[in-house]
Amino acid sequence: MLNNSKKLFSDAKKVIPSGVNSPVRYFEPYPFFVKRSQGSSLWDEDGNQFVDFCNGYGALLLGHTRKEIITAVSNQMKKGTLYTTPTALEIELSKLIINNFPSMKKVRTMNTGAEATMTAIRLARGFTKKKKIIKFEGCYHGAYDTVLVKAGSGSAHNGISISDGGLDEVSRNTLVVPYNDIDELEKTLSKNKDVAGLIVEPVLANMGLVLPEKNFLKDLRKITNQFDIPLIFDEVVNGFRISEGGAQQKFGIKPDITTLGKALGNGFTISAVGGKNEIMNLLSPDGKVYQASTYAGNPISVAAAISSIKTINKIKNKLYPKLERYCKIMVDEIDDLATDYKIPHTINSIASMFQIFFTNQKVIDYKTSKKSSTKKFHKLFTNLLKNGIFTAPSQYETVFLSDSHTDQNITKALGAYGLSLKAVKN
Ligand SMILES: Cc1ncc(COP(=O)(O)O)c(C=O)c1O
Repeated sequence: MLNNSKKLFSDAKKVIPSGVNSPVRYFEPYPFFVKRSQGSSLWDEDGNQFVDFCNGYGALLLGHTRKEIITAVSNQMKKGTLYTTPTALEIELSKLIINNFPSMKKVRTMNTGAEATMTAIRLARGFTKKKKIIKFEGCYHGAYDTVLVKAGSGSAHNGISISDGGLDEVSRNTLVVPYNDIDELEKTLSKNKDVAGLIVEPVLANMGLVLPEKNFLKDLRKITNQFDIPLIFDEVVNGFRISEGGAQQKFGIKPDITTLGKALGNGFTISAVGGKNEIMNLLSPDGKVYQASTYAGNPISVAAAISSIKTINKIKNKLYPKLERYCKIMVDEIDDLATDYKIPHTINSIASMFQIFFTNQKVIDYKTSKKSSTKKFHKLFTNLLKNGIFTAPSQYETVFLSDSHTDQNITKALGAYGLSLKAVKN
């Protein structure tokens, strides 16, 4: 029933490498091509409707075509789309971000998550005058050399530990430590004197979903303070999703630098980097750390982000409990179903995110996440899709809920999980 998508994919392959503009979008035999979206649903070129549990890989916290955001963007569009001179809107946005993330004393907005983490790392290097960066195995921070080393997401899915075309000279300066392993981190820090910064997804959402163990984030803060190394929280997924103040609010940790993206613009292209004054003041032209972009702070994305944050702040007392409740209902029921079918599994969840792994072992890092049967996961994904439920196609991603989900959507999804897990069992 995907004849148009099949034809479009064949056409796409002739003019777009692999037929997709980002590798995570491909799945076998071919992806469905979307015509439109609204609320919690996507409609494809063949007229099929899917309830969306991928939600722009976490971006669409408030759902597709959210009224407040569409209105704000439409109003702004009539006044202009790009000025490349400062606007009062940018001040309003930075203030809103700072109000929600008090560790960020100054904020610059840019376009993509990758740009934000790249700038954060450059700031850490500029601040410390050191070279090496520590990242955790399976954390994904964007598709560029410094962080595309043992990364999660599509890079883990496609088995690319270091990309062809990447420079050894660059990846050599990235030290990789297992997530949740403080001993290994301490060893790495004791052996390397040239560490400029440590970047982490506080809640790892790019290896499936992996949660920080009890004192992991607290210990990270303690050790980075001890070694005098800036701690970078990559909250591109976590920000506004774990809570309105991100993972740092939920876990009570104050990083030196924070990056945001995804839910910040609820589907519009915007990201941000912010942190301590003494670090942020290094950005050019006042300082000597260079970052620039034609589209940074463009009024369309800024209007979308202002509207997203204002909406989140207004409805937060309803929003987060609702998402958490839906998440718990889904996790409990999926756990019961998989147990009834005697399928080895484990499920990790927090706030509005969860993922199932087909292994009996606890999943706490890259190595344990890799124990999951990806064959079983693909069967689950394919059957969910057949039953009108779209989740991210890869085991190394996360299921995301949005405010547009309804009781009906959750019931439908659980029906689909029931049928799909039965297929996984057979
Ligand atoms: C935690 C995290 N950081 C950074 C990025 C990169 O963001 P972008 O794809 O917007 O460049 C992603 C993308 O998925 C991410 O999940």
